[in-house]
Formats: sequence, C-alpha cells, structure tokens
Amino acid sequence: MNTPAPRYSRITGTGSHLPPRRLSNDDMVALLAARGVETSDAWIVERTGIRARHFAADGVACSDLALAASRAALQAAGRRAEEVDLIIVATSTPDMVFPSTAAILQHKLGVAGCPAFDLQAVCSGFVYALAVADAMIRAGSARCALIVGAEIFSRILDFDDRTTCVLFGDGAGAVVLEASPEPGILASDLHADGRHVGILCVPGTVAGGRVSGDPLLKMDGPAVFKLAVGVLDSTARAVLARAGRTEADLDWLIPHQANIRIMQGTAKKLKLAPEKLIVTVDEHGNTSAASVPLALDVAVRSGRVQRGDTVMLEGVGGGFTWGAVLLDF
Ligand code: ACO
Repeated sequence: MNTPAPRYSRITGTGSHLPPRRLSNDDMVALLAARGVETSDAWIVERTGIRARHFAADGVACSDLALAASRAALQAAGRRAEEVDLIIVATSTPDMVFPSTAAILQHKLGVAGCPAFDLQAVCSGFVYALAVADAMIRAGSARCALIVGAEIFSRILDFDDRTTCVLFGDGAGAVVLEASPEPGILASDLHADGRHVGILCVPGTVAGGRVSGDPLLKMDGPAVFKLAVGVLDSTARAVLARAGRTEADLDWLIPHQANIRIMQGTAKKLKLAPEKLIVTVDEHGNTSAASVPLALDVAVRSGRVQRGDTVMLEGVGGGFTWGAVLLDF
C-alpha cells in the first residue's frame, strides 16, 4: 500500500558557517586605500548598516562553506547525511561551471544517490529553494531535504568599485526540511522580472576556453533599492494572504540582509515592532543566497526564534527575483 503524501514540510534543524577572516569597515577602508579607492566607515554604516563582513581564504570553495553549514543543520535536526533524500544548494558562486555545488556537497557529506541540484536566483535563491523543496515534499518525492544557501561573493567583487565591493560577504546557511503532519511551511510566493537583468549582474561567461565579458559584479544600487522596497512589501502581503494570516500574526521577519534601511522600511510597512526584525547585515554584509538561512540560524541559536513562532523569510535580488516563505517554526 502506498503511504499518502504528507500535507506539510517543517524545518527540523538549522546551521550556518562564516569563514574566519572578518574584515571590519576600517579593514575595507585600508584595503581600498591601497588601490587608491576612497571610502569610510561612516558612509558604509549610514547608507547600509554594515559594520563587517567575512571573506573566505584562497582555496576554500563554496561547497566547503556549504558543508560546514550542512553538518551543523543535520546535527541540530538529529539526522545523518544518509537520511537526506534531496539536496538543493542556492548559489551564484558555484565551485565550477558544472557539476553542481550540490553534487559536490553530497560527495563531501559522504553520501550518494539522492537528487542534488543547484538553484540560481541570486539573493532570492534560498527562499526559492525552500519553496521548491516544500513542493517536492508535499508531492511525496522527498521526505528529508537539505536546503543550503552558500556564497563566496568576495571572488566576484570589483575592488576598484566602492559602490559595490563594501557591501558583500561570504558565508553559508542551511536547514533540514522534513515531511510533517503539521505545518511547517504555510505558504510561499515567488516572482521574477527579467526586464531588470542589467541592474544587478555578473555579465561574464566562459567561452572558447577563456572568460568572455566582465566576470565582476555590476549593480545600479539606487535602482535595486527602489525596486526592492516595493516588491518586499507586495510579496509579504501576498504570502500572508495565501496563508490566511495577517501582519499581526508575525513573530519574526527575516528579510534578505542587504541594507538596513530597506529592511527597516519593510518592517515598518508591516507595522512590526523593530525588535521583531532579525538583523545580521551589520556583521555579515550581504551574503546573497546565504543571508536568509544565516540570519535564521543566528536567530534560532540565540533563542529568539522558538518552536511554534510564525516567521516570514523574504528574498530579493538579481534577475530581478523576489519572494517570501511564511512558516510556523
Ligand atoms: N564610500 C563612500 N562613498 C560612496 C561609496 C562608498 N563605498 N559608494 C558610493 N559612494 C558615493 C557615491 O559615489 C555617491 O557620491 P556622489 O553623490 O558624489 O555621486 C554617493 O555616495 C551616493 O551614492 P548612491 O549610490 O546614490 O548611494 P545610495 O544611498 O543609493 O546607497 C547603496 C547605495 C547602499 C548601494 C543602496 O543603493 C542600496 O542598498 N541598494 C540596494 C542594494 C540591494 O538591496 N541589493 C540586494 C540585492 S543584492 C544581489 O542580488 C546580489
């Protein structure tokens, strides 16, 4: 007899990892000054809320950060890697063009056989991956998924461009998502609008045996800012409506950690008390697909997010992509 598909998926463990090399804003000021590029701690803090970021050492791969975060999440969930039947890695900075970082991570975890793939939605990647894994679990095609956001953005930064290089950092966050008779994930809402490809991109590619085009990050910050403020509000309202909940039901908001002004603006529009906004952008910078699971893990391990709390996760980034997942933790 076939077992019926579970009605819900639920996060059973979280984990994260930051590479040990921490650069304060003053470290960035010194690093850029050596190249004749001027910036200041005051400008970075005032415009973004960022005080520090972590950079991976040479030779460390995206899959190494993903592995450390995955091990922590599996331990928190009380699961062994052998029990995982789906691996999704959200990343824009994979180890290689192919195979996927997820396949490399699977091998580093010492297991084989389960489906493993990367998901590319830039800073919305983790929210996208969580929604995909939730759908796969509810469809009955997985029961214990490992979902990772992992990035080494320091390798695609242009350190002669002060408008972008001070914003980003490296890291990884992971969750174990399992089939459950109780929610769990309540609803998700995902979007993309390819008309805005040019405002945030790494236009280079590999062709004819060499890198063709510019392989460094380009961003029209003010254009991204304007779009982000609008879509983070609309996706928050859409996911609440889909779940039959309201802003008043929210215990925590964990938006993509790109800029404190965007995050506080989103919380304010939802009439959320400032202490319900989880902030890690100050210590992590923008870690793209890793930012939401990193912030979730920090919030869980600090005892703020507790079992049963209603949490909204929000992503926004290159593509342009955006979306939200609402869950009872
Ligand atoms: N240090 C000192 N001055 C700087 C720096 C710096 N690091 N960077 C820019 N400036 C200067 C500019 O040159 C400009 O000077 P000018 O007025 O003399 O021309 C001035 O500061 C203002 O520049 P703006 O770009 O207008 O500054 P803004 O207030 O818009 O802040 C920022 C820029 C922080 C990038 C902001 O636009 C932002 O956060 N955008 C959204 C980023 C985001 O949300 N990304 C999410 C997705 S990321 C992803 O998907 C990978």
